[in-house]
Amino acid sequence: MTRDGAAEAVASGQISELFPPSAVGDADGRLSVAGCDLIELAQRFGTPAYIVDEQALTDRAHEYRTTLAAAWSGPTDVMFASKSFPCTPVYRTFAAAGIGCDVASCGELAMALRGGFDPSRILVHGNAKSAEDVRTALDVGVRWVVIDNLCDIDRLEQFAAQRQGVLLRVIPGIDAPTHDAISTGGHDSKFGLSLAEAEVAIARLRRSTYLRLDGIHVHIGSQILETPPFAAAVNAVSTLGEFEVYDLGGGLGARYTYDEHPPSVADYIGELTRAASTSLPTGSTVLVEPGRSLVARAGCTIYEVQTIKRPASPEGHTLVGVNGGMGDNLEVSLYGTRFEATMAARSLGAGTVGERCRLVGHHCESGDCLIDSVRLDSPGVGDIVAMPTTGAYCYTMANNYNASRRPPVVFVRDGDARVVVRRETIDDLMARDV
Ligand code: LLP
Repeated sequence: MTRDGAAEAVASGQISELFPPSAVGDADGRLSVAGCDLIELAQRFGTPAYIVDEQALTDRAHEYRTTLAAAWSGPTDVMFASKSFPCTPVYRTFAAAGIGCDVASCGELAMALRGGFDPSRILVHGNAKSAEDVRTALDVGVRWVVIDNLCDIDRLEQFAAQRQGVLLRVIPGIDAPTHDAISTGGHDSKFGLSLAEAEVAIARLRRSTYLRLDGIHVHIGSQILETPPFAAAVNAVSTLGEFEVYDLGGGLGARYTYDEHPPSVADYIGELTRAASTSLPTGSTVLVEPGRSLVARAGCTIYEVQTIKRPASPEGHTLVGVNGGMGDNLEVSLYGTRFEATMAARSLGAGTVGERCRLVGHHCESGDCLIDSVRLDSPGVGDIVAMPTTGAYCYTMANNYNASRRPPVVFVRDGDARVVVRRETIDDLMARDV
């Protein structure tokens, strides 16, 4: 988690490579995204704020869609793993981009429908679905419910009144190289059934009156930075027999720091479809369910510097305290995710000499550190700090620690900016009091 000197020395790149593709710095390094100056956005909408390049979401959806369709001979679909950025305007953007959607609760399902997804393009996940989750999915008529366990079959059979398509989630027995909390393909995973248990479920589903087993689902984890484990998962599930549909999950990693180099969408899809063409039936439908890699780079967070503490010794870090932290970005304290950041007025590339800073949040614990070590150019109180690659799971995991108010989501496009989710208010904090 701590960035050592060696990693810093080999890292190279421009900070704009981590922001959305539309990001540019002017001659002084002052940053804008989609034609919107980040400092002006801070003045207009306040801080912290999640800034999202709307076109970057759409472009990435198209990249996934066209790459998969070109690489696989049968039907294909891309299902937005909506847990990665569950707000109605993001659902709306992806529905308009023509991709499908994966939801993991009746709450996400409600937002997906509000965002304009047709039920026929929605699939429902969950390792502990409630009766409400199952009934809502059936009532709405989603395309697939993903069966995670035998209790799911009981519950679906209890409530189904007409034919419902289902997929069966299988544990491939693959420990993908990622943080333990987001690794889901190992033998002891709480998600899905082992290959042996899957045989039992398949036999039951084939006898079911209302449940129609269309295919298999596999997902090995998130923020995976190499492709071979994805191919291994495809090979593992191919031993179960032939099905019409294979949902190969999500999991492709995003580039958070200069020294990370995730596979491209083309590399990832290439690996999946090569494995599929050797081990899955020709003409079967292949789905993928990307979350992080679809949304991470489209988003960034802007903060205002509240305090500066200079180190007593030259080896120390300058502590830069901002008006956000683990309330709007839990990735660092929960998973040790490393981010980069820059002064919005004076952006620096990797390895450029600036002041060595520790970027800390305003919450009441030492773990509330956004970046352990980052070079910032002359940070001062009132300055705006911009942190790239916060489009995935930051909004999702935002919370009210210290009764902080969750930030707004601001969409930017072609020089225009609009709030699509407003900032929480003090009244919101008490809105559920009875
Ligand atoms: N499909 C299923 C069944 C999943 O559980 C997930 C993510 C995805 C697809 C999308 O994976 P992605 O492409 O985003 O890697 N709370 C954590 C992330 C947990 C990921 C959960 N499942 C975080 O804040 O980083």
